[in-house]
Formats: sequence, structure tokens, C-alpha cells
Amino acid sequence: MIAVRNLRKSYRLGSETLWALKGVDMEVAKGEMVAITGPSGSGKSTLLRILGGLETADEGEYLLNGETVATLSADRRATLRNRRLGLVFETFTLLPRVSVLENVELPLLYAGRRDAKQAAIQALEAVGLADERGRDPEQLSAGQRQRVALARAVVAGPELLLADEPTGRLGSESGREFMELLTVLNRRGQTLVVATHDRQVAAACGRTIALRDGRMEADAPC
Ligand SMILES: Nc1ncnc2c1ncn2[C@@H]1O[C@H](COP(=O)(O)OP(=O)(O)OP(=O)(O)O)[C@@H](O)[C@H]1O
Ligand SMILES: [Mg+2]
Repeated sequence: MIAVRNLRKSYRLGSETLWALKGVDMEVAKGEMVAITGPSGSGKSTLLRILGGLETADEGEYLLNGETVATLSADRRATLRNRRLGLVFETFTLLPRVSVLENVELPLLYAGRRDAKQAAIQALEAVGLADERGRDPEQLSAGQRQRVALARAVVAGPELLLADEPTGRLGSESGREFMELLTVLNRRGQTLVVATHDRQVAAACGRTIALRDGRMEADAPC
């Protein structure tokens, strides 16, 4: 599903060039649940942003189901994110002053789906929050907000779900509940890549790719 070859990404800091990724190769097969681990600054979020089509690499290849993502225009990448990818971030990134239901419906409305409301309610049921659909996200707990973000990420049936430190702002109980939901999704066939510092989170994944200083240090089943 994912094939990444010699991915390199730099950022300019004043007159310096900082290489966040220094040549990463990886493959992820359909149905896998993969953790990306590594110390702070090792390149986890950079890799996820590239896999998620939010940024492009400077060099290297990224194929998603055989299609080259690396060279897509910003518009085509936005369509790719909307139609084929699901993204979850540490900070939930829900829209305030818009109901939980509307937050989850939004990606379907962009995609022109007529059954948006029904599909959004179903996605909220799957994360146990259908009863909260009329509330403002600001009225919810951190764990509930992240579950809404998960419902929004999977509502359109993405080929690939990407999560960057999804339990970073959650307490241990709600973090555990969130990982349980990811595990259930994966058992139903959802391909998942999760960047994390948390050993418990990595342990829930079938495989761990460890980054260090922009390079892959290890790749092993767990
Ligand atoms: N937008 C940016 N501008 C400049 N440098 C950046 C930018 N994003 C990341 N970097 C640098 O790239 C390197 C990798 O950062 P990245 O955020 O990918 O690490 P990370 O593994 O996700 O770390 P953390 O565990 O703290 O989230 C770091 O040295 C970081 O400072
Ligand atoms: Mg990060």
C-alpha cells in the first residue's frame, strides 16, 4: 500500500539547512498497523506529514497504492487527503462552535456525498459518541474530542489512517480506550500508521519502525 524510497526532507533555518529525513525506505502492506517511534526530533511527524500529503519530500519516492504522491500538486494532494486518507493529530483539530455531527460530516460534504449525515452518525456510533452529536466539541473531554477526530478521519472510509501522537494529550484511561478503537478498526482491515512516544501505543501495533536522526534505525514486529 505504501512504498517509500530514499525519502529526504529538509527545512531551512536561516542560512542553515536541517535535514529532518535523511533517506527513509519503508513499505507498509494493506491491513498492517505500524508504529513509528523514535526520540523527539527524529522525524516522525515529518514522515507522517509527507505520508498524509500535507508536505512534499525534497527527494525520493512515495507511492500510495501504486500512485506517485511525491509530485502531486497541492490541489491534488488536498483531494487525496479528503478521499483516500484519514488523519488524526495530537491536538484534535476540531472546528469550534460547530457541532460534533457537523465536524464529522464536513469531509463528506466536501466530497459531495449525499448521505453525509447518516454516515456521520454511524461513524459517531462506532466511537460511542452518537448521543453527543449536537454538542460543541469544546464541551467534550479530551478523550471524547479525540474520538470525534477519529470518527471524522474514518467517515469517508480511507485507504490509510495516519495518527501523529494521538494519545499525547489524553489520560492513560482515555488513551487506552482510544487505542482499543484503533485496534478494532485494524481488525476490520483498516491500514494504520501511528507515530508515538508511548510504549503502550507501540505495543498495540503489529510492527514498529524506529527512527533516529532522520533515518530508520529498526523495523521489527512487536
Ligand atoms: N516546519 C519546520 N521548520 C523547521 N524545522 C522543522 C520543521 N518541522 C520539523 N522540523 C525539524 O525537523 C526535525 C524532525 O522534526 P519532527 O517534528 O519530524 O520530529 P518528531 O520525531 O515528530 O519529534 P517529536 O517526538 O518531538 O514530535 C527536527 O529537528 C525539527 O526541528
Ligand atoms: Mg512529532
